[in-house]
Amino acid sequence: MSDINSDNRKVVIELQNVFRDFHVGDETVHALRGVSFKIYEGEFVTIMGKSGSGKSTLLNQLGCLDTPSRGEYYLDGISVRKMKKPERAVLRNRKIGFVFQNYNLLPKTTSIENVELPLMYNPGISAKERRERSIEALKAVGLGNRLYHKSNQMSGGQMQRVAIARALVNNPAVLLADEATGNLDTRTSFEILVLFQKLHAAGRTIIFVTHNPDIANYSSRNIVLRDGIVRSDEVNNNILSAAKALAELPPSRDD
Ligand SMILES: Nc1ncnc2c1ncn2[C@@H]1O[C@H](COP(=O)(O)OP(=O)(O)OP(=O)(O)O)[C@@H](O)[C@H]1O
Ligand SMILES: [Mg+2]
Repeated sequence: MSDINSDNRKVVIELQNVFRDFHVGDETVHALRGVSFKIYEGEFVTIMGKSGSGKSTLLNQLGCLDTPSRGEYYLDGISVRKMKKPERAVLRNRKIGFVFQNYNLLPKTTSIENVELPLMYNPGISAKERRERSIEALKAVGLGNRLYHKSNQMSGGQMQRVAIARALVNNPAVLLADEATGNLDTRTSFEILVLFQKLHAAGRTIIFVTHNPDIANYSSRNIVLRDGIVRSDEVNNNILSAAKALAELPPSRDD
């Protein structure tokens, strides 16, 4: 299988007819019912759909947290289905950065220590390099002044920035986000969107799952799921600027 297509864009993710069934008691839930798509390097893809349409199930496949009941998944050209569990864990650690709605930071732990965590699994990286890379990642998300704050000493938006720094510190092939702005107020959501757009402009591949249809205006492509299948898959030729939207928001009460 070639991982370069005709216009020389590298395929980072390829799903071929992916199904995921869950068996609960006598019932089978068909959470994914034949999903196929390719995602190219540098795309910022939003995945939308109603509650229960299969978004998180799909993201769990993409993030190697779960395996399809049937169908193929290639990550950076590697067949994930054929891998054993420990190999999959290494692949996940090296190739995927995750950002979740509830941040998933270690409690009462500093920003630096949270961001260092994914590097701990890589014996080739020294303690000094770990520290340097986490500081760099935290500066890149605008948290150079919160390196030693603990997770309980920060705002939601700041915690999400720490989570994004942690997702990026390994320089992953793809950044996966599940409702990454779901817990944040409008202004803070836009601040996080500005950051995602900066990462996109810098060439990152991003997949962002959301309920919120507005967010699709800020991504380069939007995939809509319905009942476990792809309902539509469209490139956005008119990407709006989150920075501009942020500037136009009414001032918050503390401004
Ligand atoms: N571990 C599981 N066991 C059984 N059924 C599951 C499991 N995970 C998900 N499902 C079912 O699969 C379907 C898709 O769930 P999923 O969590 O992917 O939806 P979603 O689009 O992420 O929804 P939401 O927007 O509410 O987060 C749902 O009907 C759900 O009940
Ligand atoms: Mg979900």
